[in-house]
Amino acid sequence: MIIGGSSSQKLAANIAQEMGDVLCPLESRKFPDGERYVRIKGEVEEGVVVVQSTGYPQDENLMELFLILKTIRDMGITNIRTVIPYFGYGRQEKSFNYGEAVSADVVCQLIEFAGASSIYSINLHEQSICDLFKIPAYNLSAMPAIANYVKDNVEDPVIIAPDKGALGFAQEVASLLNCQCDHLEKIRLSPEKVETKPKNLDIEGRDAVIIDDIISTGGTIVNACSILKEHQASRIVVSCVHPVLVGDALLKIFAAGADDVVGTDTLKSEVSNVSVASLVADALK
Ligand code: R5P
Repeated sequence: MIIGGSSSQKLAANIAQEMGDVLCPLESRKFPDGERYVRIKGEVEEGVVVVQSTGYPQDENLMELFLILKTIRDMGITNIRTVIPYFGYGRQEKSFNYGEAVSADVVCQLIEFAGASSIYSINLHEQSICDLFKIPAYNLSAMPAIANYVKDNVEDPVIIAPDKGALGFAQEVASLLNCQCDHLEKIRLSPEKVETKPKNLDIEGRDAVIIDDIISTGGTIVNACSILKEHQASRIVVSCVHPVLVGDALLKIFAAGADDVVGTDTLKSEVSNVSVASLVADALK
């Protein structure tokens, strides 16, 4: 049986279909004062799978997840596999400055305390988040699904990582498609501002595919598009796993010269056109 939280209803339904499992009805609403009410409306059995991304609004989605998990645990179920396709609070996995809350650690402990018996997530911002759990935690890669999209939509691409941190993703896709890859150099000046250094790229007249794990404000991708435009790439396809897309990020990316933007359905968005349902279903099977 699959239970989908508010943030991952369609993905949960697709996972249930892939696995030939039943999708459990869930009532989730807010009381007039803003507090969350959750009721599981099916007969839950051992081996239940809960699917809930914890992106925006992070605190609400997390609270809903805690309530779902604890309710199932209180029904006497001990095997609760928990799929968190996009893992919110995943960027603060250590204290960078004195006195900072290690939010990823707190969130992991609360998920475990609420009743999860194992965790499945996709392209966690930091692999080390798996180590913050005492229960088994798996970090799946959506790169094969993205590579399939690229194969069907772009001929002979060059895969570009917008910074060194994304080079692993670019290499994974490039090796699946047997094509060239390169990376740009990015410096983050603040959470909203990044600077990307110009670089010699052999991209003139070629189709470029930018790949990153997260597109948040879009700053990283806007800079990458500008550099690829300067180098006269003939077409720019932007891809990511988690389309967070804060505010007008998508508009800025198209205005910077992107011809196509695609993300996966770990988060709901206008560009969530690559599904991770079969990836998750295979991992659960
Ligand atoms: C950074 O480490 C990530 O891989 C992304 O490049 C970053 O989160 C993107 O953020 P933004 O869209 O705000 O530039």
